[in-house]
Amino acid sequence: MAHIHLILLSTLIFSVNAQFELFQMVQQWPPATCTNVLCARSPSPTRFTIHGLWPANYTKRYLVCRQRTKFSETIQGFAALEPLLTYHWPNLKRGKDKTFWRKEWNKHGPCSENVFNQVQYFQTALNIRTNPRYDLLAILNAAKLGPTGNTSRQYQVIKNAIQAATGKKPGLRCNVNKNTKQTQLHEIVLCFHKDGATLIDCPFADCPPRFAFYLSTSF
Ligand SMILES: *[C@@H]1O[C@H](CO)[C@@H](O)[C@H](O)[C@H]1NC(C)=O
Ligand SMILES: *[C@@H]1O[C@H](CO)[C@@H](O)[C@H](O)[C@H]1NC(C)=O
Repeated sequence: MAHIHLILLSTLIFSVNAQFELFQMVQQWPPATCTNVLCARSPSPTRFTIHGLWPANYTKRYLVCRQRTKFSETIQGFAALEPLLTYHWPNLKRGKDKTFWRKEWNKHGPCSENVFNQVQYFQTALNIRTNPRYDLLAILNAAKLGPTGNTSRQYQVIKNAIQAATGKKPGLRCNVNKNTKQTQLHEIVLCFHKDGATLIDCPFADCPPRFAFYLSTSF
C-alpha cells in the first residue's frame, strides 16, 4: 500500500514539474509602459525595470501554475531583498511595489517552486538584473542603439547587439504607443536555464521587423 502511494506521489510531482523548462526574465522600458497606463511617477524612470521572472517551457511561454503557494511578506529573508526590489522591480503603476511583487509571484512563482522558493525566486531575478553582463541599457547605448526620439529601430539590429554582448538571443516585446500609434519596444526578455543562471536563446519573439524605441513618454 505504501509502495503504491509512493508511486502515485512521484507521478504527481513529476506531472507538476514537467512543464517548466526555462525562465523568461522580462524587463520593461518604463516610458513604453507609461505611455499607455497611468504611472505613479512622472517622468518615468529611464532604466529597464523588472516586470517578472516567468517560468515557461519551449512550447508554452505562459504556464498556469498548479501549485498555489501564496506570496508572503513575512517569509524569512524577504525583507532583506526589499530595498533592491524597490529599485529594480518597482510598481510603475499607482500602488505599492509589494502589490506588484505579490501579483507576479502568485501568477508565476509557484510554477518554478520545485527549484526556487519565494526568497530564492526574487533573489534570482535581482541577480540577473544586477549582473553587469546583462545590463541591457548599457549594451544598447554602447551599440548606439539606445532610446531616442522618433527613430525607427530594426528588430535584427537590436537582437544582434544584445546577442553579441551576452552570447544568446533575447526576445523583444512591443506594444503600440497610444499617442503616436507607433509600435514601440516595450520589453526585453533574457532566457535562462531552470538553474536561473545559465543564459540560453529565447524561443519567443513578439516585435515586428521595425519599431520605435522612445526615450520618454513624450519622446
Ligand atoms: C508545456 O506546457 C504546456 C501547457 O501547460 C503543456 O501542455 C506541455 O506538455 C508542456 N511541455 C512540456 C515539454 O513539458
Ligand atoms: C514617427 O516616425 C514614423 C515612422 O517614420 C512616422 O510615420 C511618424 O509620422 C512619426 N511621428 C512623429 C510624431 O513624428
